[in-house]
Amino acid sequence: MEYKLENLVIPKSIAIILDGNGRWAQKRNLPRAMGHKAGCEALEKTVEDCVRLGVECLTVYAFSTENWKRSSVEVGALMKLLRFYMVKLIDVANKNNVKAVMIGDESRFEPDIRKGIKKLVDATSKNTGMTFAFAINYGGRDEIRRAINNIVDDTVSGAISKDDINEELISSYLDTKNLPDPDLLIRTSGELRVSNFLLWQIAYSEFYITDTLWPDFDKEELLKAVESYSQRQRRFGGR
Ligand code: FPP
Repeated sequence: MEYKLENLVIPKSIAIILDGNGRWAQKRNLPRAMGHKAGCEALEKTVEDCVRLGVECLTVYAFSTENWKRSSVEVGALMKLLRFYMVKLIDVANKNNVKAVMIGDESRFEPDIRKGIKKLVDATSKNTGMTFAFAINYGGRDEIRRAINNIVDDTVSGAISKDDINEELISSYLDTKNLPDPDLLIRTSGELRVSNFLLWQIAYSEFYITDTLWPDFDKEELLKAVESYSQRQRRFGGR
């Protein structure tokens, strides 16, 4: 399909729920880990495609607070991939002037993974192009719980007063404090749910659901999502 880029409205901020790695592997009689590996490769390409489109912020749901409930074999495979791809992402990010940030609660990860996260964030912190937010051990409810804890602490200590608590202040206590709310939320593999992703931030996001499994998601699919977004009329509750 041909798209005229000049007719597209490029979302400033895109969030993606990466789903369908397991089904992709199953269809090929491969272990689930191979689906996750293929998913990592699709992710690398999508980062570059978003940069080329002029997206300012891409946030992806790579590992949720609920994903720990998967089998130890699958969690182990995901952690192994995470170790490998955090290093690889430094190159991808630096080649594309991308600044990587991490959202989620990193305290549950092994020390070497936490070091890897810090290395990725530090090595790309001076880049001035697109921000790539990697959500790992992330859950929207957990993020809000942590924010409330910190707001209560700061209220008790007197750093803020109860009257200061407005929507802007709450946003500033979330992991996404320096990131724009998603204009477009994409979910792959056809599931019609939000799965605890960016619950506060997607209040006015436009949704795009595709049946394509995440490892098969490519530039063409991204353009289809942006094309659909371009036709939406956003009113943010007004007329
Ligand atoms: C959902 O597919 C995907 C995940 C749980 C992880 C996806 C993340 C990546 C590929 C990016 C890299 C992330 C890490 C942590 C290295 P699924 O397994 O739920 O698919 P299914 O619904 O078809 O079973």
